[in-house]
Amino acid sequence: MAVTIKSKKEISLMREAGKILCDVHNQLAEIIRPGISTLEIDQFGEKAIRAYGCIPNFLNYNGYPASICVSVNDEVVHGIPKRNRILQEGDIVSLDAGLIYEGYHSDAARTYGVGNISKEAAHLIKVTKESFFEGIKFAKPGNHLFDISEAIQKHVESNGYSIVRDLVGHGIGTHLHEDPQIPNFKERRRGIKLRPGMTLAIEPMVNAGMFDVAWLDDDWTVVTEDGSLSAHYENTIAITEDGYEILTLSE
Ligand code: MF3
Ligand code: CO
Repeated sequence: MAVTIKSKKEISLMREAGKILCDVHNQLAEIIRPGISTLEIDQFGEKAIRAYGCIPNFLNYNGYPASICVSVNDEVVHGIPKRNRILQEGDIVSLDAGLIYEGYHSDAARTYGVGNISKEAAHLIKVTKESFFEGIKFAKPGNHLFDISEAIQKHVESNGYSIVRDLVGHGIGTHLHEDPQIPNFKERRRGIKLRPGMTLAIEPMVNAGMFDVAWLDDDWTVVTEDGSLSAHYENTIAITEDGYEILTLSE
């Protein structure tokens, strides 16, 4: 599939999809506390998405059984919400959510501390978020896609962490996953040239230990192989004439 360029009209629909998802994330942030189950988080998120008249795009995607991916501690991404998985003080939890508005997808992830967390855990969350912003400094026409990837990797590794290799970001639009794939690490090529109208989900997944990951028997949950903590941060962005616009953040 070729990389699609969205029209002004399409970008404005994606802007609305992004704005709603940002609101949903802000609501989700409010309910994170020790004692809540990961299933309750999913149910709350699905309700919030539907309250806007939107569709949760993760639900039933390749058989994924929920609307929100809830990944705790050493779980990297795609954690399946469960009634008996209760958040504890000191945990870190990544919430990945997406929705469809008027046929256009948005996709974003945040990682939170549950109650008081260790300095080390807080630093991992901070560096993961920063690496997204370091990456998108290169998101402008004329630059190449993997310039973003390289900047993300540099920031992560200079802090002593590692960037996951087995999962990548992606184009997004009328489908949740479109071309191009967006690794968060340097490639030998610079990748495609960025052009106005490209819409991209940039999503660094950062491990406190080694970058190796494994899949649990549920065939979804991705965990760090060494059991170290992992954090995730993602936004949907659009490439503009002179840079980028983040669609899933409010000012
Ligand atoms: N942000 C994730 C991704 O881009 C969410 C999709 S996973 C699934 O892969 F649950 F929907 F399958
Ligand atoms: Co994504």
